[in-house]
Order: sequence, then C-alpha cells, then structure tokens
Amino acid sequence: MGERVIGIGLVGCGTNGWVHAHGLAALAAEGEIRAVAAADPSPDGLEAVNRQCAFDRLHPDGASVVSDPEVDAVLVTSPTATHSEIVRRAIALGKPVMCEKPLAPTFAEVASICADVAGSGVVGQVGFHSRFNPMFQHLRDLVVTGELGAPIGYMLREDQFWPTGAVVPGHSSWRSDRAQSGGGALLEHTIHGCDLLSWIFGAATSVTARTRSVFGFGVEDLAAATVEHGSGVIGTITTVFNGVQGREERRLEVFFERGTVEITGDFVIGAREDAMLIHRPATPTEVPDLVALRAAYFATLGITRDDLIFYQYIGDRAFVHGVRSGVLTGPGFPDAYAAHALVEAAYRSADAGGAPVRLADLPGSAG
Ligand SMILES: NC(=O)c1ccc[n+]([C@@H]2O[C@H](COP(=O)([O-])OP(=O)(O)OC[C@H]3O[C@@H](n4cnc5c(N)ncnc54)[C@H](O)[C@@H]3O)[C@@H](O)[C@H]2O)c1
Repeated sequence: MGERVIGIGLVGCGTNGWVHAHGLAALAAEGEIRAVAAADPSPDGLEAVNRQCAFDRLHPDGASVVSDPEVDAVLVTSPTATHSEIVRRAIALGKPVMCEKPLAPTFAEVASICADVAGSGVVGQVGFHSRFNPMFQHLRDLVVTGELGAPIGYMLREDQFWPTGAVVPGHSSWRSDRAQSGGGALLEHTIHGCDLLSWIFGAATSVTARTRSVFGFGVEDLAAATVEHGSGVIGTITTVFNGVQGREERRLEVFFERGTVEITGDFVIGAREDAMLIHRPATPTEVPDLVALRAAYFATLGITRDDLIFYQYIGDRAFVHGVRSGVLTGPGFPDAYAAHALVEAAYRSADAGGAPVRLADLPGSAG
C-alpha cells in the first residue's frame, strides 16, 4: 500500500464483531489497518475476537476504545441499543465511524443520530454489506443502464432462523426484547433488503404493511408490505423469522419493461443458494457465471483475492479507504435513514391496521 495505516477500534465482540474481526485480520495483513483496540463487557467475546484478529489493547467498555489516541476510526458492532452512544462519542472526537445496522431501536433516535453525523462532517458508513454482493451490483447496473427498460415492480422475500437464545440455543437474546432491538424480522434483518430496494429503485414514498408475532416475542416475526417508490416502481416485501436453521435466504424478482431478473442469495460470499437468471424477450434465459461476475466486480474494487467468506470485509475495506481519502464510497448514514424510514413507515402502517403511510410525513424527512 505505502499509504497511511488506519488504526481501528472495534466495539462489540459478539457474532458480528467476530465476522468483522475476520475481515480486519485480512486488512491488517494487507497493511491497510492496525487493529488497535477492541471492547466488550464479555471476556469470552473479547478472547474469541482477539484470536481471530490480534488487537493491541482489550477493554470492557467502548468509551476506552473511542478515546484511545491511536484509534483513528471506530467500528461499532455491539447490540443495536448501544450504537448511538458510541457513534456520538466518536463524532465528538472527530473520528470516522462505521456502525452496524440498525442504527438504533427507535426511529426518533435514528433520525437524530443521522442528523448528528451529517452535522459533524465525519466519514460515516453503515453496515449494509449486501450492496457488495455482485448480483445486486449487476441488477443495479441493469436498472441504471436501462438495458431492460424501466423497472416496473418487484417481489422481495427474506427469511432467517429466529436469532434469539429461546429458539437457537447459545444465541444472545436481546433481539426478542423490543426495548433493545426496536423490531423483529423487518428492522433487524430486512433493513438490508430495504436498503437494497431504496438504492436500486430510488427512495420509497409510501408503504402499507401488516405484521404478526407468531413466536410470542415483543417484536414481529412476520411482516408483509407493499412499497411505492418515487420512481413509480411498486413492490412487495415478505420477511420471516422462522424455526429453520441452516437457511438464511433472500429472493428478489424484478419485472422490467423488457425483461425480468431473478436473484436468490445468501449473506455470505459464494453461498450455495446464490443464483441469478435474466430473461429478455425472444432470447434464451441468461444465467450469469457467478464466479466470473464476482471476480469482475471485485476487480473494479481492486480486490483480487478469492478466499473471501464475508461481505463485511468489503464494507470494512471501503470504510478504511473512505477514512484515508475522506471520500465515502460505501453506504452512509443518509442511506441508513432511507432504509429506516421504509421500515418505520411499515410499522406505522401495521399499527394503523394497514393504512398507507407516506415517508414524507416521518420526522427528519425533507418532506
Ligand atoms: N450487517 C449484518 O449483516 C449484521 C449481522 C449480524 C448482526 N448485525 C448487527 O450487529 C450488531 C451486533 O449483533 P451480534 O449478532 O454480533 O450480537 P451479539 O449479541 O452476538 O453480540 C453483541 C456483543 O456486544 C457486546 N456488548 C454489549 N453491550 C456492549 C457495549 N455497550 N459495548 C461493547 N460491547 C457490548 C456483548 O457482550 C456481545 O458480545 C447488532 O446491531 C446487529 O443487528 C449486523
């Protein structure tokens, strides 16, 4: 590299902190970063992360990481309810911050933290790593080039095992407590999908939705929504937390004026579920070679290694480059606001028995 090595502080050493640590170890080996400090109140979590990526210093609290003078940038992977306090500490010191989704349990806090990050001027990225999946990059390219005509509508289905200790032993349980998580399948999981939809089809303008809580926790494990975008695209979302382990899948079908695209995917690089079909009028169905598609996309980012498992590595690498250059290329806090606004409109609609909710009426909206 020969360029400035970025000192990274990691706050939160659970499941997702470990995944980020996997990528940070690679970035450290590539000379992009130095793993300066990590924090978690759990010694076991700290130890597991430190085995994956050796940090110079380990702390029980995030504040010590943020204030460490050798930490140039902060990566926040602690539970959702703890994010905004750590983000605010980072921006108060002018330190770039990458925060996992969701930003906070309540939409009011999301709007507030987005405004604070914008006001601070620091580089701020959010953990929407699905954007780095080459199939969704390719879909977006098809929308932008207009090769298949304008997009008309879509169906998005996402499902995941219920990620809480009562359903999956050994898992942490904050996700089934509304005060800590803010929501279930839609907010905790499908906010990724909401980011993809806003990124690919433009900002949503109106949502109608229904939700259920079948497992009896304080948050929904089923949500079904109809979404209208300012671009005219209308689509549906179905998201489920269920009891099926070993399956975490997303399927998106998009209908264009002159074609359709079907994507089935998982959340790790090269998952066995991954598949893409492109249908054009009067031509055989195109089945892109996903290994070649991935290699071509990664090459545009300057990534040539073929041993990657987690998209988080690509997001963290984009963040580090943004910290170094001062120019963010990954998804930022305004993108997170858009995804959160879609989710919030769905929740408000469900609370109102399925009545349509306009995103322009939400707090923090430009109107
Ligand atoms: N982008 C993604 O695909 C993705 C995937 C999984 C999780 N997440 C998000 O990442 C965050 C963490 O999720 P997880 O699955 O790792 O949860 P987890 O429960 O497995 O781990 C959370 C860790 O944070 C620690 N912690 C608690 N309070 C803390 C504090 N104040 N400071 C520092 N550490 C603290 C806990 O001890 C635990 O080790 C959540 O916001 C979640 O929504 C994102």
